[in-house]
Amino acid sequence: MNLTPEEYVNQLYKDDEQLEQVKESIRELGMPEVSVAPAYGRLLTILVQTSRAESAIEIGALGGYSGICIAKGLPVHGQLLSLELKEEYAKLAKENLEIAGFGTCVDYMIGPALDSLERLKQDGRKFDFFFIDADKENYPLYLEYAIQLANPGSVIVGDNCFLRGRTLNPEKNGPAVQGMRRFNEQIASDDRLVSTLLPDYDGLSISWVK
Ligand SMILES: C[S@@+](CC[C@H](N)C(=O)[O-])C[C@H]1O[C@@H](n2cnc3c(N)ncnc32)[C@H](O)[C@@H]1O
Repeated sequence: MNLTPEEYVNQLYKDDEQLEQVKESIRELGMPEVSVAPAYGRLLTILVQTSRAESAIEIGALGGYSGICIAKGLPVHGQLLSLELKEEYAKLAKENLEIAGFGTCVDYMIGPALDSLERLKQDGRKFDFFFIDADKENYPLYLEYAIQLANPGSVIVGDNCFLRGRTLNPEKNGPAVQGMRRFNEQIASDDRLVSTLLPDYDGLSISWVK
């Protein structure tokens, strides 16, 4: 029987021990097992590294899986700012980044990401890399903030663009689906961006800020 594309890719790459430990810690605490897919985690590292990003933001820390992937691509003096709604999730992510050796390059802002982003905008902060991976209904707003906080040449990545098929199903029209459709349409048409949407796993958008 044929392997699925995901199975085929997964068997080519050895499990990363640090990242497996993050998944285990998430399971132990009964947190949702929704870390970014391993192949997209590797892509995050490559995108951070090849874009030469020095400052990154992720929206949605969970247990630190994507945080480690992003931190791996940063230079020694690079910084990751991780926005997370739940204090207990940020605590676990912080612990896992420390175990992985990235404790000094990550900071957390706890609370609704829209509040944190507004504060960063008021403070005139700028970043080189963005990973959007939190509540789906706010993706269009997260994208607008990312563009406003972006240095020219920044990269903005968004996960779960297909919402496990719901985005593609015309009978599904809940707030998350509507938000995700708007986000996908925005990245495809916004003149400030050059974008693509990868049609594998749960859909991953990649945009380059002009
Ligand atoms: C899919 S998980 C993130 C997974 C993580 N990026 C990874 O791949 O390791 C989504 C996270 O977004 C957080 N979240 C949900 N709504 C949020 C909000 N309004 N502001 C900040 N974080 C939020 C959740 O608590 C959860 O930890």
